[in-house]
Amino acid sequence: MAAANSLSLTSAFLPRHGFHGPSHNQNVQLSTQKKQFARKAVSGTITAKFELQPPPYPMDALEPHMSSRTFEFHWGKHHRAYVDNLNKQIDGTELDGKTLEDIILITYNKGSPLPAFNNAAQAWNHQFFWESMKPNGGGEPSGKLLELINRDFGSYDTFVKEFKAAAATQFGSGWAWLAYKPEDKKLALVKTPNAENPLVLGYTALLTIDVWEHAYYLDFQNRRPDYISIFMEKLVSWEAVSSRLKTATA
Ligand SMILES: [Fe+2]
Repeated sequence: MAAANSLSLTSAFLPRHGFHGPSHNQNVQLSTQKKQFARKAVSGTITAKFELQPPPYPMDALEPHMSSRTFEFHWGKHHRAYVDNLNKQIDGTELDGKTLEDIILITYNKGSPLPAFNNAAQAWNHQFFWESMKPNGGGEPSGKLLELINRDFGSYDTFVKEFKAAAATQFGSGWAWLAYKPEDKKLALVKTPNAENPLVLGYTALLTIDVWEHAYYLDFQNRRPDYISIFMEKLVSWEAVSSRLKTATA
């Protein structure tokens, strides 16, 4: 798609310093995010398209834990298809020109999803997932994030155990998340089926792992628990999670 006629996913839904999902004040946030992107008249119509953004590191940067072959398919084909299909679905509709979060919330339709929901949410979820990892990731969080993990889960070890269990027990395709619940100012574990995410629950997403088989099958075959362990031990970017928490609690 032509760059001049494209909308960056990153600029569409990421704060400059790390990104997060809309919270209960999301209506205020979303209204301020609207129309931040360039729109261009094409053949007499007004349109704007989302553009697939690459992960914030080279495709081989997470080797050997997540292979470039996995990125070739997972980002290059699956994520791309979600973005391309979303653009086709919203073209010429009242959703055209809205932010990605707006489209997710509108098409979630209070639990009775409209056709564009799956592609919109999957486009968002995957960008969030890529930015949840970094080369030489893993280790333990620190600062306020660790403080809240200890407060809300009892200990970091307990949190890891519960996060792994949530990811392992999400039946079929889906996601596991660490989220922040604005109404009680606490961290929470959430697991969601298919394309659903914490935005539709009114929570702020802080961390996610994709547990669709396409996320790990090339590297781990059916060994989802091994993939989850490597994610936590070698890939997770606690800096990204801390940045999102800082935004959520600002
Ligand atoms: Fe995926």
